[in-house]
Amino acid sequence: MNAPHDLPEAPRRLPVRKLRVDLSKGFPTLWNGGEAFRTHYLNALSMSFPIGEQFFIDAVTKGVTMLPADQQAAWADEVRGFVGQEATHRFLHGQFNAELDRQGLKNHWQGWAAWRIENGKNMHPINHVAVTAAYEHFTAVMATGLLTHPNWLEGATPELALLWRWHAVEESEHKTVAFDLYRAMGGSERRRRLWFVYIAVQFFFESSLQTFINLWRAGLWWQPRTWWQAARYLFGPRGVWAASFFPLLRYLRRGFHPNDLADPEQMAQWLQAQRDQYAIVGA
Ligand SMILES: [Fe+2]
Ligand SMILES: [Fe+2]
Repeated sequence: MNAPHDLPEAPRRLPVRKLRVDLSKGFPTLWNGGEAFRTHYLNALSMSFPIGEQFFIDAVTKGVTMLPADQQAAWADEVRGFVGQEATHRFLHGQFNAELDRQGLKNHWQGWAAWRIENGKNMHPINHVAVTAAYEHFTAVMATGLLTHPNWLEGATPELALLWRWHAVEESEHKTVAFDLYRAMGGSERRRRLWFVYIAVQFFFESSLQTFINLWRAGLWWQPRTWWQAARYLFGPRGVWAASFFPLLRYLRRGFHPNDLADPEQMAQWLQAQRDQYAIVGA
């Protein structure tokens, strides 16, 4: 491990927002603009969120207890905000996933993650924080993509577009928390980057497999249109790959920090434009 770094300059208060959406009424099976691939790719990501976000909460909460007592106090607000945001995401994506269940989809990703978490539970907590920081880089890059590329959610059911963009805004807001904690714990650059490579391979494999399973269960995997839409969504000029590949790779640079990637200006615009759609319940 490296010598512990200093605390982040000014620990921030992260607002916890309660979104005014009710997913209990359900939503259409092809909620994302009627496109099979766009819908089932985001469905797959949602399936991983409740268990993943609980892992992030547990990792950060435990990680802070490894710091000296005076530092723990300085981290308290930031950790409370992080936990509050991720817990709210878990709750709403749990409702979202319950509807996917009603629609006949099957969440395998959750089981794969549960198996890994069980097997890794005895590792030193710094590894759990490194894994969290790696995933948080993925979510921050995806969040920027969602906020800056309206085509990713074009034609989506309005309540669900609201859900995904709210989640994206908050992922951008708290993108430094696990990373800074990892540094404060004295985590090395080598360990940080190795975990990222492992997480990247795992994420691409599991997100692809869960998306394919969703398309298969929905009876859509064999339609040529599904794969044409997939190619455009993933590899088009305004697609996922073009928006994400280089920003993701930046994590491997020595000395990288999440703030090296600017927050999308659409964040502030969204918060302003959707002000009636959420209530701030904690900060
Ligand atoms: Fe989240
Ligand atoms: Fe997050």
